[in-house]
Amino acid sequence: LQETRQWRPLLHYAPARNWMNDPNGPILIDGVYHLFYQHNPVEPVMGYISWGHAISRDLLHWEEQPIALPSTPQEQIYSGTVIYDRDNRSGLGTDENPPLLALYTSVFRDMPGEQEDGTQAVSVAVSLDRGATWTRYAHNPVLTLDPVSRNFRDPALCWYEGGGYWVLTAVEAEQQVVKLFRSTDFLHWEFLSDFRPPGYHTQDMLWEVPVLARLPIEGEAEASGWVMIVSVNPGGLTGGSGTFYYVGDFDGTIFTPAEQSTATDDPWQYRWMDYGPDNYAIVCFAGTPTPVSIGWMGNWNYANQTPTSPWRGQMTLPAHLSLTRQEDGTLLMKQNPVSLGAPVEVFVASDIRPEAEVAWKLPDSVADCADFADAVLDLQLVVDPAEDVVVLTVAATEDGRFGTEILYDPARRELVVDRSRSGVPVPGATFTTRHVAPLSPQDGVVRLRVIVDRSSVEIFAADGLVRMTEVIFPPPRATTVTLGSHAGSACFRSVKARWFR
Ligand code: FRU
Repeated sequence: LQETRQWRPLLHYAPARNWMNDPNGPILIDGVYHLFYQHNPVEPVMGYISWGHAISRDLLHWEEQPIALPSTPQEQIYSGTVIYDRDNRSGLGTDENPPLLALYTSVFRDMPGEQEDGTQAVSVAVSLDRGATWTRYAHNPVLTLDPVSRNFRDPALCWYEGGGYWVLTAVEAEQQVVKLFRSTDFLHWEFLSDFRPPGYHTQDMLWEVPVLARLPIEGEAEASGWVMIVSVNPGGLTGGSGTFYYVGDFDGTIFTPAEQSTATDDPWQYRWMDYGPDNYAIVCFAGTPTPVSIGWMGNWNYANQTPTSPWRGQMTLPAHLSLTRQEDGTLLMKQNPVSLGAPVEVFVASDIRPEAEVAWKLPDSVADCADFADAVLDLQLVVDPAEDVVVLTVAATEDGRFGTEILYDPARRELVVDRSRSGVPVPGATFTTRHVAPLSPQDGVVRLRVIVDRSSVEIFAADGLVRMTEVIFPPPRATTVTLGSHAGSACFRSVKARWFR
C-alpha cells in the first residue's frame, strides 16, 4: 500500500504505523502529557493488542514512544487507565519515588476453564521512571468477576474525596452494566454497586469504557456535578459505536442518574457526547487541573477498513469538559477543544449574506494558498439563519466536486453533516454519510466552530453543547470553504478563520 501522506493528521495523534483504537490512561505528569492507547504494533488491523505510548507538551504535537505494554501469546492488553500513586499506597514504588500504575484489562488465552472470548480481568503494571518502562505486577490479575470473568473490562479510576478512596468503574460488556469497586491501595478491590439503569438496551449492544467523573459547573464557583460516560457498540445514533453520558449523583457507593437523564428506550432522548460517528471510548486525563477528555476518532463499523497507510486510527482533539445549567435546572455537558496555539494565518469578516444558490467562497487569496493543505483550519461562525437553511462546505475542492457539507435547518432545529461527497468512501463497510444533531439557536443565532485536519472534521456547536466528529478522506488540496444558504437570506454575522500547524 502507498503511504497516504495527504491524510496524515497534523494536530491529532496517530501512530507512525499500524493499528490504533482507544486512548488509555492519558495523564499529565511533570508538565508532560502521556497518552497510552490500544495498538497493534505489527499490523494495520485490530489484533495483538498492546499499549502504545506517546508524549506531548501541548496536547497537539505528539512524539511516539516505545511500546509500553506488549501483548504476549497468553495476554492481550485491553483498555484501562494510568494513575500516579503519589503516596505509594500500593507499596509498588518507594516514598522517594512513587510509582505510576497502569490498571489495564488482561485478555487471557490458554487459561484453564477459559471461555470462548477469553477471561478478562483487571491487572496492574508499574512504572518507576515516569512512564518510560513498565513491569507487570507479580500477582495479577487484581480483580476478577465470580464465577466467570467474561467481558469484564476497561477499568477507569475516580477519586472519591468524601470517602478518601478510589472508585474503579469497569463494564460487564454484554450485560450492559457498569460495576463499581473501591480501594485505597489499587490492589485490593471491594465491590460497591452495579449501574444498569433501564432505558436504551438492545440485545447485541456492548457497554464499554465507563468513566465516572466530577465536572465543574460553569459560572457556579466551586460547584460540580457527577457524570457517567458510557461507550456503546453497536447502538450509536449513526450506526456502529457511539458515546453517551448520564448526569447524576454519586454518594460514594451508588451512581444515581438525574431524572432528566434517565432516558426512555428512545436513543434520541439520550445525551450523546457526539452526534457524529467517530468519537468513541472517551476518557479523561489524570493530573490536569480541570477535566480534559480525549476519544478515539473512529467507529467499529469500519475502523479496520479506513484507507490510510501505513497507520490506521487517530485520536480526537483533547477537549475541556464542564457542565452548564439550563433554564429548567438541567445540567448538560459542554466540550470545547484545547487551545490550538498561535495561528499561522487569520481571516476575519462580518455580515456576509451569500446570494441564493451562489455560495460565498473563502477569499481565494487566502484559501488557495497551497500551504493550507499543511495546516489545520479552525473556523468560528456566528450565523443568523433567518428561517433559511444555512449551508457550509469545508474540505472542498476548487471545482466543487468534493466537500463535506454542514447544514443548519432552523425549522427542524437540526445540524446536519453530510460526508457523502467528502472524498474516498470506506469500502466494504457500513460507512454512514448523513448525520443529524438537535440544535436550537441561542439568542437567534447559531454558533459553530469547525476544525478541519487532513482527514477529519470536528464540530463544536452552541459553545460546546453539541459535538459532531467525522473522519473524511478528501482528495489532495481540498482546502476550499464555501458559505451559502438555500434562499439567500441567512446572514453570517461573523466569520473567523484561523490556520494552525
Ligand atoms: C472499546 C474496546 C474496549 C476494549 C478495547 C479493545 O473500543 O472494545 O472495550 O478494551 O476496545 O481494543
